[in-house]
Amino acid sequence: MSSCCPGLGRLLVAVATALGSVSSPCPQAWGPPGAQYGQLGRSVALCCPGVAAGVPVSWFWDREPRLLQGPSSGQGPELVLTRADSTDEGSYICQTLDGAVGATVTLRLGYPPARPVVSCRAADYENFSCTWGPGRVSHLPTQYLTSYRKKTVPGVDNQRTNSSTGPWPCPQDPPGAARCVVHGAEFWSQYRINVTEVNPLGASTRLLDVSLQNILRPDPPQGLRVEPIPGHPRRLHVSWKYPVSWPHQPHFLLKFRLQYRPAQHPAWSTVEPVGLEEVITDAVAGLPHAVRVSARDFLDAGTWSSWSPEVWGTPSAGPPPEDLLVGGQPPSRLEAQPPAGSLVPSRPSLQPGPRPLDHRVPLEQVAMLASLGILSFLGLVAGALVLGLWLRLRLDQKDGPPKHGFLGPINAVDKFKSE
Ligand SMILES: *[C@@H]1O[C@H](CO)[C@@H](O)[C@H](O)[C@H]1NC(C)=O
Ligand SMILES: *[C@@H]1O[C@H](CO)[C@@H](O)[C@H](O)[C@H]1NC(C)=O
Ligand SMILES: *[C@@H]1O[C@H](CO)[C@@H](O)[C@H](O)[C@H]1NC(C)=O
Repeated sequence: MSSCCPGLGRLLVAVATALGSVSSPCPQAWGPPGAQYGQLGRSVALCCPGVAAGVPVSWFWDREPRLLQGPSSGQGPELVLTRADSTDEGSYICQTLDGAVGATVTLRLGYPPARPVVSCRAADYENFSCTWGPGRVSHLPTQYLTSYRKKTVPGVDNQRTNSSTGPWPCPQDPPGAARCVVHGAEFWSQYRINVTEVNPLGASTRLLDVSLQNILRPDPPQGLRVEPIPGHPRRLHVSWKYPVSWPHQPHFLLKFRLQYRPAQHPAWSTVEPVGLEEVITDAVAGLPHAVRVSARDFLDAGTWSSWSPEVWGTPSAGPPPEDLLVGGQPPSRLEAQPPAGSLVPSRPSLQPGPRPLDHRVPLEQVAMLASLGILSFLGLVAGALVLGLWLRLRLDQKDGPPKHGFLGPINAVDKFKSE
């Protein structure tokens, strides 16, 4: 309207004035009293509060008593600044001719909102938070309206209720923080987040679709400890805890990744421990090692957490107990070998430290015992077969027709005894 026919607006104002002297409603929703806002580079109209449209006013700069626009300008109570720039910001005074009404107006310039930049993340399996920032700095007072709704799968959710999909407000905590939290979200549902940036010049909305299983990123594990194991110059015992933000629950477990490297070695070694502890068996004797852990949902939802802060530990430096020296070699060499020696009777003395920490060796022992057991069983079976065969041959030689099948020898034995 204003671009095509500048006279029309004024005409309408004149008509409105003629119809009844309407006090010009100055926009006053934002900021301190008297503040008015305009867009940089555009034409800005300042409004004199409390003055009816069509009533002539004078406008002055506040900082110097310079008349900017006289009462005969034909602009009514408005001061129009074409192509406003930052030098136009500041305070203005408007006054009616009789001086009866006057006001101070403060002009601030900036830009309308651009679509905000939004990202969401879940640190547990039930709650997620979204953070945002401006797509462009507006220089103006800004609010963000945040809400979310559950996305419906057509034909599935619709049939149940029509009121369970929101929108609900996504509360900002503390108010004004660039972050809001959705509590009690469903792990398998899709949500649509609405972050709307609002300032005196307008509003702009960003919609973001999220699902917990995609944005899940646990906090890093906590309480990381790296301890030497006395008498084991190549071992380090590492333990850690779940992050407090991830409550233990059987259906939502975490798995872990552990990295370690000796001082001055750039490359990390990575292992994926099973539980909440690990024994590093190939540490470099005498060197401090950096260790860190990260966590991820057990079923690979979302992404790995960031790494925990590094914790340093140095393998036990003390000389190994004397009975461990076999053939002049330090015990660590022996242990680095496959567990062939793990059944050696000296084993208990190898473990001055807490035994249950080392979860590998017992497993290997069990495997060893199991294979020994299988071997002896096979030996027995073979022996029985040979014996049976031998008996059978003898019996065959003794009396006539041979018996068939595996049970032959047993029957033969019975027969043999009964004879
Ligand atoms: C989700 O947030 C609520 C409220 O802060 C909290 O009580 C609950 O433990 C959280 N859920 C999980 C799985 O952490
Ligand atoms: C849908 O929502 C409206 C308003 O909340 C309610 O009156 C109506 O009964 C609902 N319909 C169904 C099928 O739940
Ligand atoms: C997003 O939120 C704003 C402010 O609450 C609202 O006016 C707008 O309609 C919403 N947009 C959508 C698509 O839900």
